[in-house]
Formats: sequence, structure tokens, C-alpha cells
Amino acid sequence: LQLLSVAAEIYPLIKTGGLGDVVGSLPAALEPHGISTRTIVPGYPAVLHALCNRKETIRIDNVLGYSVILWEGRTDGGTLYAVDVPDLYNRPGNPYLSPDGQPWSDNGIRYAVLCRTAALIASGLLPDWKPDAVLSHDWHAGLVPAYLRYMEGPTPPVAHVVHNLAFQGLFPREMLHAFGLPEWSFTFDQLEYYGQISFMKAALQFSDRLISVSPTYAEEIQTPEEGMGLDTVLRARSNALTGILNGVDLREWNPMTDPSVFFPYAVGDIIARRANKRVFQAEFGLPQKSDALLLGMVSRLTTQKGADLLAKLAPRLFQENIQLAVVGVGDEGIMQEFATLRSRYPQNFVCHLRYSETLGHRLHSAVDASLIPSRFEPCGLTQFHALRYGSIPIAARVGGLSDTIIDANSAAVSEGVANGILFSPTTEDMLYLAIRRAQALFRQKAVWARMQRNGALHDVSWNGKAAQYARLLQDMTGHETVMTE
Ligand code: ADP
Ligand code: GLC
Repeated sequence: LQLLSVAAEIYPLIKTGGLGDVVGSLPAALEPHGISTRTIVPGYPAVLHALCNRKETIRIDNVLGYSVILWEGRTDGGTLYAVDVPDLYNRPGNPYLSPDGQPWSDNGIRYAVLCRTAALIASGLLPDWKPDAVLSHDWHAGLVPAYLRYMEGPTPPVAHVVHNLAFQGLFPREMLHAFGLPEWSFTFDQLEYYGQISFMKAALQFSDRLISVSPTYAEEIQTPEEGMGLDTVLRARSNALTGILNGVDLREWNPMTDPSVFFPYAVGDIIARRANKRVFQAEFGLPQKSDALLLGMVSRLTTQKGADLLAKLAPRLFQENIQLAVVGVGDEGIMQEFATLRSRYPQNFVCHLRYSETLGHRLHSAVDASLIPSRFEPCGLTQFHALRYGSIPIAARVGGLSDTIIDANSAAVSEGVANGILFSPTTEDMLYLAIRRAQALFRQKAVWARMQRNGALHDVSWNGKAAQYARLLQDMTGHETVMTE
């Protein structure tokens, strides 16, 4: 089965969060099922730079008024197409934001051109390749199913993956023409959303299948509380919606071979892991206390992630024997709060307010527990990283976090099955209590060690999840997918 995957980011070429990870690692996981994926992304500088052996596949004179060169190259994740339109994508840095931290004012047309090009390929533009199915990711690729629906002639079916419903791609009605959409598409049952064009709603209405990145998130987004204004649409499409958890590339996340880990250790070898805490404390400038509960967080610093709650709570934690290390970047106000904490509590707190894969990996190999106090979390990848690296996740009971973590309540502890700590609702006080509960368990060395080992045994790989994707794509296309390994 030939699959075209359409997205705004792909690790390791360009990534702002979990979307990039998933788009980058899913193709290799689908391969053993007989699914061959080609991915199409915008030709940002980082992408064109990485595709050194690229070849020009085709030139398209007029995609919504822009002239496109489509480059084809190979990455670890298979064949990659880059849509090269310098006027739209030749901008360094964050793909979505201008240097002042605001979304680029032309994001609508930037992603519409990506979608339109993808739809043309899907409908058979290339002489030597045509996909049997399309997988579109998040709002950036949301117009793909709409364009395909409005095209004449046969087009392949589309499954749309909802990674985060909070970002919907809303643009003024006046852009309809620029996006190449017919006037009559602007209705409530198509892509109109409270007087605006919604890329996400278009995807929800027109895709053959909808995938959310965890089973719990699939339920949550059908409720008015968590549906971000689209719950009615999602309830109407409930039969088409499936939740499939994300997975992690185990080669990328292997503490034995990970170059970011100071003292390599086998997954689950919590004794060998210990040396990493000491050296991490030294590197980060924290006192080398083994009895201090060392907490870590690797995250976008936004309210979704509860980073604001943690910043408020931190001084209370520092009354206890607790240390905290944060690696993250995000909202200016939250970063400022962390910077202030750093200067006030140098004995307990350290932060690196930037994006660093190295520090992100190293943190999970060293800290006792990883904090994920999200207000909502479609799937979340950091709990997988923590579990695999022997750090106990302390997480809000939402979305994919509740699908992965088994809370250390007394029954789970006595059965020996706990692998983390869950709390609800996401408030400062509940986070505080969860951390205090963790601290009590941390003092019970055998219980803590058991939780770490359970975490390491937890299957965070893509294996089972890719099989679910394969079944869904098979159902959707009628093509047999075969398991070859
Ligand atoms: P989201 O996509 O909502 O940001 P996820 O948990 O799905 O959340 O994925 C976030 C990904 O980005 C993870 O791989 C995480 O390790 C990584 N990440 C986030 N912030 C940073 C940072 N400052 N430095 C390094 N990695 C980061
Ligand atoms: C989004 C979500 C996150 C999810 C990621 C990958 O960014 O916020 O929960 O893990 O997409 O699907």
C-alpha cells in the first residue's frame, strides 16, 4: 500500500513538538506491514538543506498563484517531498512563528499551498507514483481532504490525524478565493466555523477516517469541555473516529546507545542508571544530594503543559528536599517566571530555556521523576521517554497520559503494577500533592525501584500502534496489508 503523509514538520529535519516525532518515526513502523510511506512537507531551509541528494521531481507553474518546485530526497523515514516556494517557506527558525513570536501573517496560504500540492500528487500528478491513501496531520494539512473532495475524478481516501485540536487554522472568509476554495464550500456543514474558514473543521468533515492520538483523547474531544468548539462535528463523525496511541523510535530512545547519556545503561538497569543523577546534578549546578527528589520537565512552556502551574508551585516545593530541572521554551511570561526562580533558588532549581534534544534526553536518564502537569494532552511523548529511561512520570490524568500511566495507588502498588503517578484535576494543589506522594514513595526504595522497572517494561514502541494504523488503512482502502517481520 502506497501512502502519502502530509505534515508541517518531520523529525529530525524540522520539529517543534511531538507532531514532528510522529511524522518522522511512523513510516519506518508501517514498513513491515507492507505500507510504503512518502511524506510531503514545506521546503523550509532546514528541510532543503538536509535533502542534499535531492532531485527535482516536477515543477508546477501555478499552485494557488505560486510556482512550486517539488524536490524528492531520502531520509531515514523514507522518501520525502519538499514543496519549494521560497516566498512562502524560505524563513529560518520556527516554522510557524516570526521572530517576534507571532504566527506568520500568511500562514493560511503557506499551508494551503502545501495541501494543494499534496492533493495534486494524491490525484495522480506525478508520472511514476500515485498513493493508495493519504494520511494528513493536524490543521496544517487540513485542506487536503477538502481539495480531494472538491476534485473531479477518482481520488484516494484520506485519514486525518488529530494531534492537537487546540490549533485549528482559522482564516478570514475573504481568503476563500486565495485558497482556491469554491464559494459554496463556505457552509456550516463544510468548512465554515463561526464566520471563518477552518482548516481543522474541513479535515473533520471531509476525511474518510479520523484518528486521534490516544483513545482517551478520542473520547474527550467529543465533549463540550474538551472539544474546543468542534465537539458537535466530532460527535457527528464518531463512527469514523479511532484513537491510536503514538509510539517512540526505540533506536532513538535507547539509554545504552544514546550519545546524550553520560553513563550508558540497559533499559531497566536502574542500578547502573544511578550515576547519571549525580553527574547531572553537577552539570546543572545543583547540590549532589542522592536523597533529594530530583524532578525534571522537558516541554513546551505553555498553559497546555501546565508550565505556569509548576512555576507558581515551585517555591513551595523548595521548602522540601526537592530539586527541579526544566528544559523548555515557550510563552514569554512563563519563561520569565522560571528565570526569576533560577536566580532566587539556585540550590533547588535550574532551567535551560531553549530547545535541546541533548538535554532533553539526558534529563530523562538522570532525574527521579518527570513532570507532565498538562491541562490537556492528546497523547504526549515525554511520559514514554520517562518510562523507558527509568524516570517516574508524575502526570495529569488526561488524554494519552491516562492511557499510558498506571497510578501508584495502594492497590496498584501492592499488586506491583504501578509505573507512575496520576493526579486530577490539573491544579497547583493537586500537583503539589502528587509530588508529595511521589516523595513518600521515593523513600520506599523497593517500591520505587519496582515502579521504575515496570516503566522500563512498558511497551512504548510503535509496534502495536503501527498494526492498528495498518488495519485502519486496510479497511479504508480495501488493500491488503501484510506483516513481513
Ligand atoms: P507536544 O507535541 O504537545 O509539544 P509531546 O509530548 O507530544 O508534546 O512532544 C514533545 C516533544 O518535543 C518531545 O519529543 C519532547 O522531548 C520534545 N521537546 C519539547 N520541548 C523541548 C525542549 N525544550 N528541548 C528538547 N526537546 C523538547
Ligand atoms: C501534539 C500533542 C501531543 C502529542 C503530539 C504528537 O502536539 O500536544 O500530546 O503527543 O501532538 O501526536
